[in-house]
This record gives sequence, structure tokens and C-alpha cells, in this order.
Amino acid sequence: MPTIAEAAVEEARAILHRLPNRHSSSIPLLYLAWKTCGWLTPAALDEVAALTGLSPATVEGIASFYTMFPLHPRGKYHIEICDNISCYINGAPDLKNHLRNKLGIEFGQTTPDGRFTLDHVECLGNCCEAPCMQINGKEYGGLTVRKIDEILDSLD
Ligand code: FES
Repeated sequence: MPTIAEAAVEEARAILHRLPNRHSSSIPLLYLAWKTCGWLTPAALDEVAALTGLSPATVEGIASFYTMFPLHPRGKYHIEICDNISCYINGAPDLKNHLRNKLGIEFGQTTPDGRFTLDHVECLGNCCEAPCMQINGKEYGGLTVRKIDEILDSLD
């Protein structure tokens, strides 16, 4: 697995040069590490800490605050179903159970074939179409059990 130093050192230098201080570079460097390493490995977090001068614990704290940053390997399709109030009152609990049963995994887990990772998230900002989910960042609203099945069946 490549490191930032091996695969993206020029991009890292550009980020450090562009932003006013090393601390403010932590988010774009974490994003760079994610894209370089595939997920935020412990080594990648240490590398960001070394680049920014922040402690490894601080960098891990920043990374774990933002749910978009993967602290574990993810499957080919990252499913995030919204768990917040608009989605909740429009059926999210039943849809969450359906996804768990259909995929045979719990939230935070990946299917054994590496195809799907399942997570629940707070509001996706699409409450008018609740209940919602996103897969690899693409949003789907007005979900029903049937619609979820159709969406998952349409994935290669
Ligand atoms: S509560 Fe689900 S998108 Fe806002």
C-alpha cells in the first residue's frame, strides 16, 4: 500500500504550501491520505501527524469526527443510510433492518465478498426526500424496501 511520501509527496507539499499553517492542512492531507492509501491506515494517520506537527491522537480525533473518512477498509459500495429525524419518522428503522438482513452484516461491517459496507449517518441534507441513503456519495431518496432492492440489484 503506497504512502503519501511514495505516491503523493508533491500534492502534500502543495497543500502545506497553500494553507496558512500546518494544522489547517490536516483535513486536506487526510483526504489525500485516504485517496492514496484507500483508507486511513494507522500508518497514514501517523504520516499526516508528522506532516502537520499534530500528535497522532489529535489527527485520529479529527479523522474520526468526520464520518466520511474511512478508518477501516470499505467494500466496493459504501452504503450510508440516514438515521436522522425526517428519515426516521418516514421509515428508516425498517429500511435499516432490511439492509442488515439483506446483506447479512451489521452496521460498520463489510460483506465477506468485499462488495458492501453498511453504515448509518446523520442528516444527508435531503430531508424533503426522506428516507434517504447514499452509495459511494450518490444520493437516493424516497426509499422503500422495494426501491432499495432495485438499487442494489442494479449495481455491478
Ligand atoms: S433526516 Fe435524513 S436526509 Fe435529513
